[in-house]
Amino acid sequence: MNPIIEFKNLSKRFKQRVAVNNLNFKIEDGEIFGLVGPNGAGKTTTMRMLVTLLKPDEGEIYVSGYSIRSRANDVRRQIGFMPDSFGMYGDMTVQEYLDFFGACYKIQPNQRTHLIDDLLELVDLGHRRNDMVDTLSTGLKQRLGIARVLIHDPGILVLDEPASGLDPRARVEIRELLLEVARLGKTILFSSHILADVGELCSRVGIIEDGKLAALGTLEQLSAHIMPHRQIHIGLLSRAEEAQIMLQAMPDVAEVRVLENGRIALEVDFSGDDEGIHHLLAKLMAQGFPVIHFSEESNNLEAVFMRTTKGIVS
Ligand SMILES: Nc1ncnc2c1ncn2[C@@H]1O[C@H](COP(=O)(O)OP(=O)(O)O)[C@@H](O)[C@H]1O
Ligand SMILES: [Mg+2]
Repeated sequence: MNPIIEFKNLSKRFKQRVAVNNLNFKIEDGEIFGLVGPNGAGKTTTMRMLVTLLKPDEGEIYVSGYSIRSRANDVRRQIGFMPDSFGMYGDMTVQEYLDFFGACYKIQPNQRTHLIDDLLELVDLGHRRNDMVDTLSTGLKQRLGIARVLIHDPGILVLDEPASGLDPRARVEIRELLLEVARLGKTILFSSHILADVGELCSRVGIIEDGKLAALGTLEQLSAHIMPHRQIHIGLLSRAEEAQIMLQAMPDVAEVRVLENGRIALEVDFSGDDEGIHHLLAKLMAQGFPVIHFSEESNNLEAVFMRTTKGIVS
């Protein structure tokens, strides 16, 4: 294990409000790490401290061993940061935009030309290089933003809600781009309150809530830890409470909840095997319950997240 980022007893308050509350975790070199949590959980505050834009009240962050407090310049050199909203200098062309940021990093003009060619190819914007930034769609602007934060060849990308506001197709494209960037050997830390696809992309996920790390691990580890039960969803035409009482008395049934979302349905936490699931259904049928739907919920991140954050999802 080779941590490239280390959060140590990190805390930040805004007046009485604790935004980040004693965070402790490490990100390994080459990981794609997803920091996931509802709005207001402390994701942006954590990232702003990491990229040295905000000073912690307590604790430390080390980036490749450099302290954000005492070696801020060394830290900045290694990080490309894309904030959740950023100005775009819309009246420049795509090429000029990247050239401008290259100049900011004091990259020589002849080098910049090659670099920009490579970056535009990477983010698949070569065909738009002479178009005004303003004319790009949100998804393309986001890709340009990723090219921009790569311009000084940082080892670490920190992206605050890169998928926010994108349509599903653009979201898939961003995901593919991030995988490609990761293949170049970069470490990626990104935040999201949107859970679709995070699991497929990330090597590990940290779930943050009220400034605290509620869970940390691979998706499989989180699922097993937070959802030790299998979950079965049963749709009924009627008699939900009666079915609840019957199921609750069966072996391996931990809990049965009646769902009230317009349709009549039960959610069963079940610790048995497939045979046991068959028995549940057989018993319901034998007793004449009007079952219209019976399925096992997969242990997806959304479910883990909902469980961890007790439903406080925006
Ligand atoms: N500059 C600030 N001044 C006061 N409160 C802030 C400031 N920035 C963030 N907060 C508060 O800190 C908490 C965490 O915010 P933030 O880190 O932006 O969460 P997230 O990015 O997960 O949505 C929220 O309650 C937010 O209102
Ligand atoms: Mg935020």
